[in-house]
Amino acid sequence: MAASSTKSLLLSCLMISFLHQLQFQLPHVAATSLKKSDGKGSRGKTLSFTLYQHETINKTGYIVVDGVAGAGVSQTTTPFGTVYVFRDDLTVHADRASRVAGVAEGSSITTSLDGLQSLSLAKITVDHRGHRGSVSVLGGTYNTKPSDYPVVGGTGDFAYALGYVRSSPVDLRGRTVTYKMELHLYWPPYAHYAPVPQKPI
Ligand SMILES: *[C@@H]1O[C@H](CO)[C@@H](O)[C@H](O)[C@H]1NC(C)=O
Repeated sequence: MAASSTKSLLLSCLMISFLHQLQFQLPHVAATSLKKSDGKGSRGKTLSFTLYQHETINKTGYIVVDGVAGAGVSQTTTPFGTVYVFRDDLTVHADRASRVAGVAEGSSITTSLDGLQSLSLAKITVDHRGHRGSVSVLGGTYNTKPSDYPVVGGTGDFAYALGYVRSSPVDLRGRTVTYKMELHLYWPPYAHYAPVPQKPI
């Protein structure tokens, strides 16, 4: 009994050390082959760019469910439980008249009683510098400060992307508010071996 458990312990140790080696060797192989595909294609290792999101209350963004408690509706606050839905153009410069390079569609639910924080989800569709596809994000928003949203995935040229999107208020005055949106995308080594999804019919 004792002997056999020692043996199986030894075996599991060997197995773990083998898996450990495998785990640390694989990324090296992948990283080397990834380098070849760097550049314009979506299969590169990293990609960063900045767009500007413009939101006009009662035109591109609406409160669809009223909140129930806490702060009132103001330029920067909404009552706890408010559900907000938006579909905002993304331009290449802070100027609203600059070229539209995408759209951000999503929703925010107010999750703090001071009305300043919410949980946001969005699909960011981009056609910019030869990259086409969408990035989906999910995370917390602090209305008056920059917020980082983890990228949960993507489609098209952004399939298998990870990373984060940083959204910072540029101008919160007036009917249209502008946010700077910095996308920092990263493709983990295994994405290089993943199949390219076919377009859904
Ligand atoms: C947006 O529309 C709602 C509902 O009609 C209204 O109560 C609110 O004052 C409007 N907000 C602005 C900033 O126009």
